[in-house]
Amino acid sequence: MPSVLSPSDPTPIQLDHVRLLRGTTTVFDGLTLRLNESRIGLIGDNGAGKSSLFRLICGLDKPQSGSVTVWGHDAQSKPAERVGLVGMMFQNPDDQIIFPTVEEELALSLSTNGLSRKVNCLQARQVLTARGLGHWAERAIGSLSQGQRQHVCWLALMMASPKSVLLDEPFSSLDLPGRAMLDLEIAKASQQVIVSTHLLDHVRGFERVIWLDKGQVRSDSDGASVCATYEADVAVRCQSPSMRID
Ligand SMILES: Nc1ncnc2c1ncn2[C@@H]1O[C@H](COP(=O)(O)OP(=O)(O)OP(=O)(O)O)[C@@H](O)[C@H]1O
Ligand SMILES: [Mg+2]
Repeated sequence: MPSVLSPSDPTPIQLDHVRLLRGTTTVFDGLTLRLNESRIGLIGDNGAGKSSLFRLICGLDKPQSGSVTVWGHDAQSKPAERVGLVGMMFQNPDDQIIFPTVEEELALSLSTNGLSRKVNCLQARQVLTARGLGHWAERAIGSLSQGQRQHVCWLALMMASPKSVLLDEPFSSLDLPGRAMLDLEIAKASQQVIVSTHLLDHVRGFERVIWLDKGQVRSDSDGASVCATYEADVAVRCQSPSMRID
């Protein structure tokens, strides 16, 4: 697994005493986390706070109190200051996709390079062609399947190439070949990659996995042990009378 961090780098992602409300729900209350490994998995039940954590790191949500720092910058700093630091693949691709066609969407990832839109569209085509997907270039995004849209979102993120990549349920709509391909691409990515997933086998081998439970860190260690601890807890809960169907 490539090491993306050098000792002179600031901590990639740091949360200090974060309190976050979404609507009337207190999602985090005093969450402190230092995320400095190359590969980190994020697991936990529905509603545990995984997507909310990613939104905070990307600066999409502002904490009521506490701080979120990304590569030494406040996550709430101006977008221009955040360019190239962190990018997110949304749980729902339709929350991420802006443009009507695949090549335009991918070209958006290159929009800060100072080159013309036409040149960036050409480069997007080249990326697609190199993957045997050249025929997608002019396709309307709306005509792609959910898994294909997830694939486009991954390509867009890779082309933008931020220092930290947040993947929110990236495997959920992918077919088996797509999942295998994404596993390989995550393994060889040169960036810090943080993956939120319910499919534990994709993060079991990671150096660090965090189990979030109702907005709190329930377990935080190597992937194999945290996934096993979470699975054991789920197995116990499945034995409770309210979960049994016999
Ligand atoms: N837009 C919103 N408005 C109000 N509350 C929200 C909103 N989005 C999420 N929440 C609440 O915030 C909490 C954390 O939700 P979040 O989406 O972060 O969970 P998650 O761990 O990503 O869950 P999942 O596994 O289902 O994706 C939940 O209690 C949820 O109901
Ligand atoms: Mg989520």
